[in-house]
Amino acid sequence: MNQLFQRKPIAELVAESESPHGLKRALGPGDLIMLSIGAVIGAGIFSSIGTAAAGEVLPSGEVVRYGAGPALVLSFVLLGVVCGLAALCYAELASMIPQAGSAYAYSYATLGEFVAWIIGWDLILEYAVGNVAVAIAWSGYFNSLLTGFGIDLPGWLTHGYRTALLSSDPAVHALLETAPRIGGVPVILNIPAFLIVMFVTGLLAMGVRESIRANNIMVVVKLLVLGLFVAVGAAHIDPENYKPFAPNGWRGIHQGAAIVFFAYIGFDAISTAAEETKNPQRNMPIGILGGLAICTLIYVVVGAVATGIVPYEQLRAADPLARALQIAGLETASWIVAAGAVVSLTAVLLVFQYGQPRIFMAMARDGLLPPWAARIHPKYRTPLASTIFTGIVVALGSLVADENEIYDLTNIGTLAAFAIVCIGVLVLRIKEPERPRPFRVPFVWFVTLGGAAACLYVMRGLPLHAWERFGVWLVIGIALYFSYGYRRSKLRRRSAGA
Ligand code: ALA
Repeated sequence: MNQLFQRKPIAELVAESESPHGLKRALGPGDLIMLSIGAVIGAGIFSSIGTAAAGEVLPSGEVVRYGAGPALVLSFVLLGVVCGLAALCYAELASMIPQAGSAYAYSYATLGEFVAWIIGWDLILEYAVGNVAVAIAWSGYFNSLLTGFGIDLPGWLTHGYRTALLSSDPAVHALLETAPRIGGVPVILNIPAFLIVMFVTGLLAMGVRESIRANNIMVVVKLLVLGLFVAVGAAHIDPENYKPFAPNGWRGIHQGAAIVFFAYIGFDAISTAAEETKNPQRNMPIGILGGLAICTLIYVVVGAVATGIVPYEQLRAADPLARALQIAGLETASWIVAAGAVVSLTAVLLVFQYGQPRIFMAMARDGLLPPWAARIHPKYRTPLASTIFTGIVVALGSLVADENEIYDLTNIGTLAAFAIVCIGVLVLRIKEPERPRPFRVPFVWFVTLGGAAACLYVMRGLPLHAWERFGVWLVIGIALYFSYGYRRSKLRRRSAGA
């Protein structure tokens, strides 16, 4: 039992991150904030906001979740507070342990190997699985852009099978009958989502500096586009749309928050860039907290405008922001927002496809995953093999999955990881109070315990199926740990040898 909870010494984690043969330290505080906005603003605000405001109903008429209505802004404020608590905890750990493994590495040092594995396994939901949803949202906006040019791809090439199965839109649901069949099985594949993931993977394989430059350009585009949405949309707000303000009461605000939490994911992802950051002790907290503050502000404003332009039920669409402008008769602005969304979502894909292989790398370095995942390409100095592996898996998932199902799974996994990180900060304060902390969480008991409780509270707003799937995911992870990592763990082998 003790071995299972053996902690990795922090000095060792820091030494790994400083190896001269490791990753290239190229990023400053500005790059980190840009990386954060690149990761955070994406499918959540451009797409899941529709379900968060209007709720979700299955073709059978069953209500999966209640929407927040115009009170969506309160969901955003609630999440700003929850994520603020978690971000403070991330900032303390990222500045202390500037290692690419992020929450995985922190929990190895604080709560021991078994919890670290669970977190690493959980982070796959945040990064790789989350990117499946982003790719699907990308495809939604890309298709509406193409439609603007008069190009209509057939529905069976632009939706996943799961979406056809679950959509309450009759035209999409009908694909189950109308799509071509192979061996009796309808072929319903989201081809644009597949292709964009492969494209981003290629970009990342070429190296970090180049990808970061691409990210900075995309972030500027996304800020301009949301600025345009707010400026044009604000002039078309009808106060009548704010009545009733909270049609489903607190239940709607809570359940809306549980899905639109996806919009906040990513402020933590920049911690995977710690080994490529100059002076991470100072720059990591700036990047994490600065990025979150900017994004929260943007969300509250965009949420208020979106629910003010049209009655909130009309936001139930794959491209709600573009749709809202279109309904208001603002065709050109709608088209520009759709184009901007395509660019913005590409930036999100880039950051998460960047983060996942680095977490695999950290886990493989510890012996919990096969060694090939830790290999760094001698010329590009990137984890090339795990970058390509991640790309292929995410691209295949994007072909068939449904966006809302994936949001739920990603959110529950990420919230669980956030809660464990919060607890980890407290544990480390108690166990190693003297260790230098370049950034310290204020009111540590309140922030850590309050942060963990707040994450659990948001998780409770997710539908039952999300909990069931999360349970299955954890069981698979635990089985894998005992069949591979438990025996191969370098830390455990070393201590057994000693
Ligand atoms: N926060 C990111 C997005 O909304 C994951 O796409």
